[in-house]
Amino acid sequence: MAEDTSYEWKPVKGFALSGLFWGAVSVLIGLIISIQLWKPELNIAPFLTYGKLRAVHVNGLAFGFAVAEIFALSYYMVQRLTRVPLLFPKLAMVQLYIFNAAIVAAAVSLLAGMTQSKEYAELEWPLDIGVVILWVMFAVNIFGTIIKRKEEQMYISLWYLIATVIAVAVLYVVNNLAIPVGLFKSYSIFAGVNDANIEWWYGHNAVGFVFTTPILAMFYYFLPKSTGMPIYSHRLSIIAFWSLVFAYLWTGAHHLVYTPLPDWIQTVGIAFTMFMIAPSWGSVVNGYYTLAPDWSQMKTNYLAKFFILGITFYGLQTIQGPTQGLRVVSQLIHYTDWVPGHVHMGTMGWVAMTVGASMYYVIPKVYNTEIYSVKLANTHFWFVLIGQLIFSITMWILGIQQGAMWKAISPDDGSLSYTFMESVVNNYPYWKMRTVGGLLFFVGLCMFAYNIVMTVLRAKKIPAPAGQGR
Ligand code: HEM
Ligand code: HEM
Repeated sequence: MAEDTSYEWKPVKGFALSGLFWGAVSVLIGLIISIQLWKPELNIAPFLTYGKLRAVHVNGLAFGFAVAEIFALSYYMVQRLTRVPLLFPKLAMVQLYIFNAAIVAAAVSLLAGMTQSKEYAELEWPLDIGVVILWVMFAVNIFGTIIKRKEEQMYISLWYLIATVIAVAVLYVVNNLAIPVGLFKSYSIFAGVNDANIEWWYGHNAVGFVFTTPILAMFYYFLPKSTGMPIYSHRLSIIAFWSLVFAYLWTGAHHLVYTPLPDWIQTVGIAFTMFMIAPSWGSVVNGYYTLAPDWSQMKTNYLAKFFILGITFYGLQTIQGPTQGLRVVSQLIHYTDWVPGHVHMGTMGWVAMTVGASMYYVIPKVYNTEIYSVKLANTHFWFVLIGQLIFSITMWILGIQQGAMWKAISPDDGSLSYTFMESVVNNYPYWKMRTVGGLLFFVGLCMFAYNIVMTVLRAKKIPAPAGQGR
């Protein structure tokens, strides 16, 4: 098929490679902080302590990696699904430059200790304004292109992108409302338990609308594209979409179980949390049924492996998540290492696998070539899978032990059976094991980065054979 030159791939390329860079740096920092926990001597300078680097790791992956890839892959999908070029390509390029400058400024400010002290909303107010400007630029291009579309039908991925754009805008603005007291310091306009409620309404939906809806948009678009199998049920995908966006925004209170937040708000949050299993599994089942006519692709097509394992981890995540919301489970695992186990099954399993596979598909398309090495991509798959499993399973075992140790009481006098320090000492072997898992994941990520860079570098030398165009 001849190359279609009317599409605008420069922003796609720019954001995809920027995200890859920030992702690799942030995962490396994740590896370092995982070591700092069992080797505290590694806290070598005030700006390189665990507390500072942890925030850089989390923000680097949420904003530097995930948001950059969301921009890249959304700009790819929106053009293909509407059959019109991006409406404002120059704006997207300006957005790319501001984005990279903002990530550098964010990292420096966090290392310097400037923070609003709210998880996923650490950035101080001048950077928040930058984030809002970037998001408006993104929204203008996405909505503008959809409005000008030549393809009448709105494929499900477009609905997920629209939800992402709107929800992130509302969540980010409301949770970051603050009164500045200087260039680098501000105070939230909410206080006490209201602040916590708003923060977790935002925090949970940061997971929902950064680590879930745009990733589902990718899944629904790139799974059929890379396997040649049409999505099993468009109707199911639409029903799952509307029920997911309806329920997601009410669940945040499950992060505040057994806190001073009024009981009834917790219960409403928990009820919606339970409901979330249905729409989540609507997508999981749709994914499985899509590949069902030809499961042999799990052997022959490396992209199918990434997508199906990705959606499997999403499925596991969306059973584990609602379970964690229940009071009886929360009272055991909350504040323990179980939660980072949950987090990293979602991020390293679902997000990294789905985004990685989408990039394996897109990069050769936009550079009009083929992937550099399928063998290396297959090896990457096993490294991230095994690394992630070691990470998550180790943390789940540790989390249950921690919870049990904190709650254990002597039957004689009701005193605590273990001091807190004893529970910390018990963490060490598990934390070391997590580093081993993280190392495997990081090695896999390096293979991925090398494969992508080599694909880009050789694109100019070896053009794609006939039939490999976009
Ligand atoms: C039906 C879907 C899901 C539900 C109901 C859910 C539920 C929960 C609950 C109840 C917690 C709090 C655990 C605690 O601190 O006691 C939590 C934490 C978390 N979940 Fe999920 N989860 C879901 C899916 C996901 C997915 C797909 C991801 C993607 C990566 C994810 C990422 C996270 C993160 C990052 C946290 C940690 C938040 C923090 O404390 O900073 N979750 N989840
Ligand atoms: C080599 C791979 C990785 C390692 C070693 C690693 C390590 C860590 C560590 C040690 C923490 C702090 C846990 C704690 O609070 O006790 C953490 C938190 C976190 N990481 Fe990673 N990480 C890795 C990959 C990733 C990836 C790929 C993502 C996202 C795409 C990610 C997202 C997060 C998030 C959202 C948190 C905050 C979790 C929470 O608040 O409970 N990490 N990571």
